[in-house]
Amino acid sequence: MNRSSFLVVFITVLLLPISTVPARTRQGKHVHHVNKNNGAGKLKLKFYQKSCPLADAIVRNITWSRVKADRTLAAKILRLQFHDCFVRGCDASILLDSVNGEAVEKNAIPNHSLSGYNVIDEIKSELEEKCPETVSCADNLALAARDAVSYQFGKTLWKVFTGRRDGRVSSASEVLSKIPGGASNFTTLQKQFSDNGLDVPDLVALSGAHTIGVARCVVISRRLFNFTGKGDTDPSLDPGYVKELKEKCANPPHNPTTTVVEFDPKSSLSFDSHYFVALSKHQGLLQSDATLLTNPTSASYVKAFQNFEDFMAQFGESMKKMGNIGVLTQNQGEIRKNCRVVN
Ligand code: HEM
Repeated sequence: MNRSSFLVVFITVLLLPISTVPARTRQGKHVHHVNKNNGAGKLKLKFYQKSCPLADAIVRNITWSRVKADRTLAAKILRLQFHDCFVRGCDASILLDSVNGEAVEKNAIPNHSLSGYNVIDEIKSELEEKCPETVSCADNLALAARDAVSYQFGKTLWKVFTGRRDGRVSSASEVLSKIPGGASNFTTLQKQFSDNGLDVPDLVALSGAHTIGVARCVVISRRLFNFTGKGDTDPSLDPGYVKELKEKCANPPHNPTTTVVEFDPKSSLSFDSHYFVALSKHQGLLQSDATLLTNPTSASYVKAFQNFEDFMAQFGESMKKMGNIGVLTQNQGEIRKNCRVVN
């Protein structure tokens, strides 16, 4: 090999590993601009290892003891994180209380049925006692959501990267356009998720959160009793399931804003893949659930996720992506002392 051909080989070898880097960087930058995952790359595992080694254990112990006492809390805390991350990113803006009568996120209509805030407060008090002004409310919520779902399994189900900081803004007016409505069609859902850097497998897997929890009858009233304004029912629903739901939601005697129905009947306290089985039988509670069958790609995931291991693998991955949305890191935002008020 002469000197110049040696140089060509040498330079090519040098560039080989580097040539994979721009592709990743481009992808990262794409996420940065389009998907608002601003500080996502800066989240880490064991972020609090030195500053608050007890953080993870504090969150887990309190969450597990609360969920043990009230199993319905798992769904509530998981949903809290979703509603936090989709508005202004995962910055704990959902936890802020109104000041001077200004309507904040939690006052907006899609958030009226959220609860579980007091569990996050209890965890925060303990964190402040052990490690003052160190662990953000946004991380507190992300860890608690994971632990709430994990309680049933006695082990943590997915890894939560930490290092989020807390936002200082919360506004009710931002919620309606960002939080998907229960009557959404596939196109709308796909758009709202992709605005947050989430793709179709993420949409389907994360909708699988509806394997636990309940919805108020008011959310499905139209679908059951007046679908096209002619006193009819959504024809895509399984007729046996319709009958059951109509009995549970009939008004009178039931008050539609307080009466609830399980998303995944008889298994609404168990995080499993039964949601996808029910969905395939046209027993998805919301139109936004049912619509996942109307697109060939999402329908193929509905089928695949009937296998629990496949569902769980994607769910963990998608929760990590959801937990990255628009995060504040390093010197952005603050570490709130009380999750309900800015410092
Ligand atoms: C795909 C778009 C989604 C739509 C349209 C949607 C809509 C809804 C609606 C309408 C309810 C009932 C609220 C009420 O009774 O007022 C609900 C409950 C719930 N949602 Fe979703 N959701 C979506 C995605 C998600 C995601 C991504 C998660 C979490 C990762 C989630 C977790 C939950 C849980 C756990 C409940 C039950 C809460 C409880 O039992 O208190 N949802 N959702």
